[in-house]
Amino acid sequence: MNISITRTTSPRHRPADDALGFGKHFTDHLFRVDWDEGKGWHDARVVPYGPLELDPAASALHYGQLLFEGMKAFRAADGTMRLFRPRAHAARLDASARRLCMPEVGEPLLLSGVRTLLRTDAAWLPGGPGTSLYVRPFMVATEPFLGVRPAKQYALVVIVSPVGAYFAGPPRALRIWAEVSRSRAAPGGLGAAKAAANYVASLFAAEEAKVRGYDQVLWLDAARHEAIEEIGTMNFFARIGGTVVTPSLEAGTILAGVTRDSILQLCRDEGVAVEERRITVGELQATAADGTLQEAWGTGTASLVAPIGQLSWEGGSVAIPAAPGGGLGERLRSRLAAIQVGAAPDAHGWLEPV
Ligand SMILES: Cc1ncc(COP(=O)(O)O)c(C=O)c1O
Repeated sequence: MNISITRTTSPRHRPADDALGFGKHFTDHLFRVDWDEGKGWHDARVVPYGPLELDPAASALHYGQLLFEGMKAFRAADGTMRLFRPRAHAARLDASARRLCMPEVGEPLLLSGVRTLLRTDAAWLPGGPGTSLYVRPFMVATEPFLGVRPAKQYALVVIVSPVGAYFAGPPRALRIWAEVSRSRAAPGGLGAAKAAANYVASLFAAEEAKVRGYDQVLWLDAARHEAIEEIGTMNFFARIGGTVVTPSLEAGTILAGVTRDSILQLCRDEGVAVEERRITVGELQATAADGTLQEAWGTGTASLVAPIGQLSWEGGSVAIPAAPGGGLGERLRSRLAAIQVGAAPDAHGWLEPV
C-alpha cells in the first residue's frame, strides 16, 4: 500500500537525553491507516502529530475496542536506527486484534507504516545510553454506533516517543506489592491481549500500592491469589537453586512478553536451566527461607530487566536477595542492552533495519 507523507510546517526540537523520561514527548509525525468493513485497510499516511478527531459515538469510547503495542528502535554505533523484534510485536498486535474482534493489520502494513514514520522522524532518535524511540501502535474503533457489537470502522495509529529510563532515578531494586484481593485478568478473559481494558483494570490496585510506597503491583491468579502472573507492565522471573523460572502462558491470563521470550532465549544460550511453570508466592517464601531463592526480576520493553528487592502483600513479605554484582538478571540485562544497540552479536536476528 502506498503511504503518503505530509510533513509538518513547524518541526520541534528533541529534548536533551537526560530530560526525556518515559512517554512524555512525541515526535513531529504520526502514521495512520483506516479500515472499513467491505473495503479493508485504506488511506495509509504519515501526517503531522496532532489530536485525533473522533465522533462522540465512536464505539471505542463506549465499549473499549482499543488495543496497543509497544516496541523500541535503537541507535547503533554507526548512527543507523534499528527496530528490536518488530515482527514479534506485529504478530502480537494481530493476536490482540483477533481477541477483541478487531481487524488484523498484518506485519507488512504495520511495519511499513512504522518504518515510514521512523524515517520521517529520524532526527528524533536519541543517542545517549539507555535511550531509544518507543514506538506505540494502537487501534481504535471509530464507527459512530451505540449498539454492542464489533465496530465496522477502525483506525490504526502509530505514535513515537523518544525515551530514557522507565523507572526514574538511579537503578535500584523494585519494591513490589502482591495483590491478594483484586484481579487483573481471569482465565478466558483478556489477559493475554494488549487491550486497554487490562490496564484500566490494574489502576486501582497500582495507585494503592504507590500510596503504600511500592513501585508496581504483582498480579496473582484470579481464583486463589496464590500463583504469580505478572507485574504491572513486566513479566516475572525468579532464579531458584540455579534455575530460572517464569510463569507459563497457557492460562491465557498474562501477556506473552517479547522481552520475556528474549530473556528465556539468552538463558538457554548460556546453558542456564529455565522452567515456564506455575510459581506461587508460597514457593518464594519457602525458598527465601531455605536460601535457594537467589534473585528475582521483571522484564518488559520499557524497563528491559528490573531487579526486585522486596515482595510484600497484606499480611506478609519476602525479602528477595540481591545477587552479588547484580547476578544473572543484571548480566542478562546488559547482554540484551548490548544486542539492542549493536554492541554484541545479534545471534537470533532480533534487530531489523528501519
Ligand atoms: C501487562 C504486561 N506484561 C508484560 C509486559 C512485557 O512485554 P514486552 O516484553 O513485550 O514489552 C508488558 C509490556 O508491554 C505489559 O504491559
